[in-house]
Amino acid sequence: MRLSVTPNADGFGARVDGISLQAPLSAETTHALRAAWLQHQVLFFPDQPMNDHQFASFGLTFGAFGSDPFVLPVEGHPHVLEIRREANERVSPFGSSWHSDWSFQACPPSATMLHARVLPPLGGDTWFADGYRAFEALSASMQKDLESLTAVHSARRPYSVQGFVAGGGRERSMRIIPSDDAWATQEHPVVRTHPETGRKALWINAVYTLGFKQLDNKASDALLGYLCAHATRDVFVYRHRWQENMLTMWDNRCTQHRATGGYDGHQRIMHRLVIAGDRPR
Ligand code: SIN
Repeated sequence: MRLSVTPNADGFGARVDGISLQAPLSAETTHALRAAWLQHQVLFFPDQPMNDHQFASFGLTFGAFGSDPFVLPVEGHPHVLEIRREANERVSPFGSSWHSDWSFQACPPSATMLHARVLPPLGGDTWFADGYRAFEALSASMQKDLESLTAVHSARRPYSVQGFVAGGGRERSMRIIPSDDAWATQEHPVVRTHPETGRKALWINAVYTLGFKQLDNKASDALLGYLCAHATRDVFVYRHRWQENMLTMWDNRCTQHRATGGYDGHQRIMHRLVIAGDRPR
């Protein structure tokens, strides 16, 4: 088997073949995967049947596990979450608004990995948006202005007791734990310099970013609305179609993503883990 990396046409996202993720990887292969991940931001590995033990072991080749608040893990694997939607479920799919994972944490995850266990016959794609190109497409003066702003992030919209994911009355098969902890806030730069590539990315999102510390509410809401729409313009988005047993991993420090629906009447099950990251700068 020979490792092969096939990028999407615009270089955002790449398919990786010629590798088996079920067994430990050599230092050389781990290095090549890390380089491909840093370059293409989203990597997808078709045809990788694996159990949670193998999934977690592969995760650890990219760093220590991050922490997952507000969602209970699967039995026996404290770092693996199950994203599950049953055929008869009518709530919006988990993660279906644009976000970077856990951006309300002081040190949000560097990577997220998702392994497809059960897929619907159609629908259920995951969309990714490239934060580097979103930043680079802004005018020089806008880039400069944004570099002096601080964004305030919080988990309150989805995970407070009345939150749109966790709130009462929503029949979900996922094991969500609403909490008053979701009201805490965290400040991060709006323009994030990636700790490994040195590139700058626009780092706000519609779920967890509440606004900007230096602006009044009206100006803050207007700017946030503009930036969220800009960051997820079609030209920056890769629409990822899943196959069963595919593993996909993304760089959470320079991307956003969202789950999509379109599969009512069918089950979808994914297993997910996050790798610890550092404080955004
Ligand atoms: C997520 O991690 O936000 C969910 C993505 C998905 O289920 O497609």
